[in-house]
Amino acid sequence: MKPHDVLMPSEGMDVVADLIAGRLPLHRLWLEPDPDAWLAQWAPALRAVASNGHQFPIDPAFMRRLPHLEIVASFGVGYEHIDAKWAGEHGIVVTHTPGVLDDEVADIAMALTLTAVRRLPQAERFLRAGEWPKSSFPLTASLGGRTMGILGLGRIGKAIAQRAERFGLDIVYHGRHAQPGVPYRFYPSLAEMAKACDILMVAAPGGPETRRLVDAEVLRGLGPDGVLINIARGTLVDEQALIEALRTGAILAAGLDVYENEPNVPAELIALDNAVLLPHVGSASVKTRRAMAQCVVDNLVAWSEGKPPLTPVPETPWRGSWGID
Ligand code: 8YV
Repeated sequence: MKPHDVLMPSEGMDVVADLIAGRLPLHRLWLEPDPDAWLAQWAPALRAVASNGHQFPIDPAFMRRLPHLEIVASFGVGYEHIDAKWAGEHGIVVTHTPGVLDDEVADIAMALTLTAVRRLPQAERFLRAGEWPKSSFPLTASLGGRTMGILGLGRIGKAIAQRAERFGLDIVYHGRHAQPGVPYRFYPSLAEMAKACDILMVAAPGGPETRRLVDAEVLRGLGPDGVLINIARGTLVDEQALIEALRTGAILAAGLDVYENEPNVPAELIALDNAVLLPHVGSASVKTRRAMAQCVVDNLVAWSEGKPPLTPVPETPWRGSWGID
């Protein structure tokens, strides 16, 4: 069987394009001198899209341009840049890369928690600035014995909970519903959970449903000893409210890997000494990014060979055939 062609609309990590190109004919749209003209000519022949990052929205307007589209294989576990509901309603399968990045992201979540509470980046800056011979670095808050409230107890949230338990933290959680068999206390209200915990860990998916769930009221509930950690999506947090809470001491500290408008981080946030800021590196190890890329390729190769997708998103369960034809 002739391998099927794949369209990649936007540039992202090289490893994704390289691995796909090793198995299937790949068209890199961003390299075309006139992408619109190219699409107009080639669209009818294209049945697969590989989405390489969250910058390029795979919305109905884009998907409509590919009348025979059957699959969108996305790099990453979060896929809020793809209208998966619309895809499902139009017979298009969307796949993502769950599972392979849980441990890596959970490690970074704990690293951010520890660095934010114990002020490790600030302590290092203190040493490098030659301050140590003149004075001791100020004492910090402690991690152990506190309560971590996890917003979004999915695969990554559970991997964080396992680690946090070993650090001596009590775990509680909030999500759309209580999960049977989970040993942690469930809070139906995020605001109530924020009042009851010291560290609020944001690990829920992005998208319109979770937009700015963590607002000024939730941050007030977290309180002056509270710490906010976000390894999920910047859209879950009201960034201006967070800046205000950090500036006024309404919360103690924040550790962030994600932002509302990446890669742009507000100057007010960068100026704050009680915020530890990472450039969205949760899954960014060679091993894990390669495993994510391999998952994209495996889904596309399965599709090309007429087999079921390996990791479809819940909105587009496999119904036994490809496409709407
Ligand atoms: C990646 C992520 O940074 O998987 C996700 O949803 O946010 C990260 O692992 C991202 O997918 C790379 O584009």
